[in-house]
Amino acid sequence: MTRTVTITDNETGNKADFPVREAKEGSHGINIKTLHKELGMYTYDPGFLGTCSCASDITFIDGGKGILRYRGIPIEQLAEHSTFTEVCYLLLHGELPDSNQLDDFNHNITDHTLLHEGMRRFINGFNHDAHPMAMMVGSVGALSAFYPSASNVHDHGVQDKAAYRLLAKMPTIAAWSYKHSKGLPFIYPQNSLSYVENFLQMMFAFPTEDYTPDPLHVKALDLMLILHADHEQNASTSTVRLAGSSEANPYAAISAGISSLWGPSHGGANEKVIRMLTDITESDKTVQDYVELAKDKNSGVRLMGFGHRVYKNFDPRASLIRDMCHKLLKEMGGSSPLLDTAMELERIALEDDYFIERKLYPNVDFYSGIILRRLGIPLNMFTVIFAMARTVGWVSHWREMLRDDEFRIGRPRQVYEGSGMRDYVDISKR
Ligand code: SDX
Repeated sequence: MTRTVTITDNETGNKADFPVREAKEGSHGINIKTLHKELGMYTYDPGFLGTCSCASDITFIDGGKGILRYRGIPIEQLAEHSTFTEVCYLLLHGELPDSNQLDDFNHNITDHTLLHEGMRRFINGFNHDAHPMAMMVGSVGALSAFYPSASNVHDHGVQDKAAYRLLAKMPTIAAWSYKHSKGLPFIYPQNSLSYVENFLQMMFAFPTEDYTPDPLHVKALDLMLILHADHEQNASTSTVRLAGSSEANPYAAISAGISSLWGPSHGGANEKVIRMLTDITESDKTVQDYVELAKDKNSGVRLMGFGHRVYKNFDPRASLIRDMCHKLLKEMGGSSPLLDTAMELERIALEDDYFIERKLYPNVDFYSGIILRRLGIPLNMFTVIFAMARTVGWVSHWREMLRDDEFRIGRPRQVYEGSGMRDYVDISKR
């Protein structure tokens, strides 16, 4: 017998039963498709705090327990044993690849790392001081001009090709945006290198000298990409799903996701965290002063890198990144005043009732910037790195949506609270 939930309108006495979409794990969803037909009402849920937009097999999060799994595999195990392109295969196809499948997957990616030469002119068209995220939003959207056939979005071959092209070209776009912002020559992809080695050489090599990526940097960045690869229905992934639901070209849909990620409440937080830690470290403000500011609603200040819509416990990614920070510092030597400040901030906040009552813990952005700085990546490139990693999550959800039997264009409803019907008034009488 199908499990149902009964909703009663206690004003009219009308009531109806609604089927439950049972989750394999975590919370079930009440299917309210017939709610308006049965009770003449819609649900009202600004910010979608209690609304499932879809069913998905890709990523599972238990915010209360700090659990994150990609296709059922705990993030801690993937962080320890996997690589980013292997995780890409897992997210896209649902299973870990065997060695032949992984080799083929890596070759399919390296076959698409080059950009059309017209994209060089496009990127060079930006001012040198354009934010690299602006260049990435524009460049990824512009790819739809070079691949019009990608608009045939229900074709599985088109979906696969779009996945390879996006995974392959995001590092090139990211690195070329950085080089353009520095007025430096673009470095072309080297297909003999691994995904992360290739990105680092496009970022930091010069045509005038040899460059060999530091293996520790490669390992640290590969971990960062794994940890940022997917996170179920976050704002940017939901943006990609909604944009893609109109059957728009995938490059346009992913460009919309990059735009959403850029916000300081989402992927833009990693850049804001470093600015916050630097401000505390270099100003006469103490860590306690800043915590007090963040607790004061009137200050307009939030503890960037703290809090999460889903995690009401530690974000497991924050713990893994913090551990990598310590490992990098130990192996690379030196200290990090920013890490010291971050650790002090975390300690004070986690002992403060304001944060404890609201279950505010460090999230993925709190420590990530410290690693990226150590790798020599500039502040305005932090969210670009996040976008590079999250591309596989966006594409995986885009494909899953298009292959869903319940696929249809997304079109939320509203509660109208505006003016009642009234006539137009000529300007002479206003
Ligand atoms: C990411 O969704 C995802 O999965 C995102 C992400 C991913 O991988 O895709 O995990 C990546 O975006 C991480 C989040 C990065 N953003 C930040 O670090 C920015 C700072 N944090 C926030 O602004 C906030 O915590 C959010 C946006 C992350 C979550 O916001 P919610 O769920 O809407 O929570 P809320 O704003 O309703 O806050 C609840 C309470 C409020 O106080 P009260 O009104 O109840 O008194 O907690 C307070 C908030 O004022 N609060 C904070 C705070 N975050 C929430 N107070 C101070 N500092 C903070 N950081």
